[in-house]
Amino acid sequence: MVHQLRLVSRSPHLNVMCNAAFKAARGLVRDFGEVEQLQVSRKGPGDFVSTADKKAEDIIYKELKKARPSYGFLMEEGGKIEGEEEYTWIIDPLDGTSNFLHGIPHFAISIGLQKGSEMIAGVIYDPIKDELFYAEKGGGAFLNDRRLRVSGRQHMSEALFSTAIPFAMHDAKTRAEFQKSMDVVIPLVAGLRRFGAASLDFAYVAAGRFDGYWERPLQPWDMAAGLVLVREAGGYVCDLQGGDDILGTGSILAANAFLYQPLKDLVLPVYKF
Ligand code: IPD
Ligand code: CA
Ligand code: CA
Repeated sequence: MVHQLRLVSRSPHLNVMCNAAFKAARGLVRDFGEVEQLQVSRKGPGDFVSTADKKAEDIIYKELKKARPSYGFLMEEGGKIEGEEEYTWIIDPLDGTSNFLHGIPHFAISIGLQKGSEMIAGVIYDPIKDELFYAEKGGGAFLNDRRLRVSGRQHMSEALFSTAIPFAMHDAKTRAEFQKSMDVVIPLVAGLRRFGAASLDFAYVAAGRFDGYWERPLQPWDMAAGLVLVREAGGYVCDLQGGDDILGTGSILAANAFLYQPLKDLVLPVYKF
């Protein structure tokens, strides 16, 4: 984790978030190495909660609580804890659980900071690739020490998009929406990916690796940090009804400035919820 050693000037909030992510990452990396020995309990089909997951959340919670005792929390495992201030940490301690449990090195820790109803900071750390994505409202988006910018691709025919493939826990309507979205998007684009960690899908849009991304259903902790990253990297976001209630609707469409409208025109009519 080279970034801990570098003298980078990040805001106090981002420092606290990065330190919590780095601390939790050490355990996750260790556990990933022993993934076959992990004791795994099943929360529901396709949605595993591992020991690693809970340990990581506990570390993040303790670190953030120590640094800002009055802030609230919204955590995947621990749920909602009201704070005494308008600030809430929104945490996914291990995003990409299925990848993790299958030994696929594509997962991340995601920590967002909300002030009132607005997301103001986000940190997404991929400990295997040692990629730290972070952003704060008005301060730009970064990967390690490099400023991030969404891609400049203008044409669907050259665009690489990310989305999700429904699985056992999803209903027939969600599966039908997915299939319809494939029908309208596939004929026009350079490629589609399903990497399996929503936070990194956002981060990759911010980094210009993906030209756009859409998905539903998602939870606030899948999206909170990523929203700040995409916006601060110059990307556009909306929910899959075309509004801005991304966390409330559990849906996202994100893209660069050129492909945002074309992608919306294709994908939004598919989603009726
Ligand atoms: C999942 C991942 C995945 C997304 C799922 C999420 P988890 O989070 O972000 O990419 O498609 O909807 O639940 O369970 O690995 O934290
Ligand atoms: Ca998640
Ligand atoms: Ca998770």
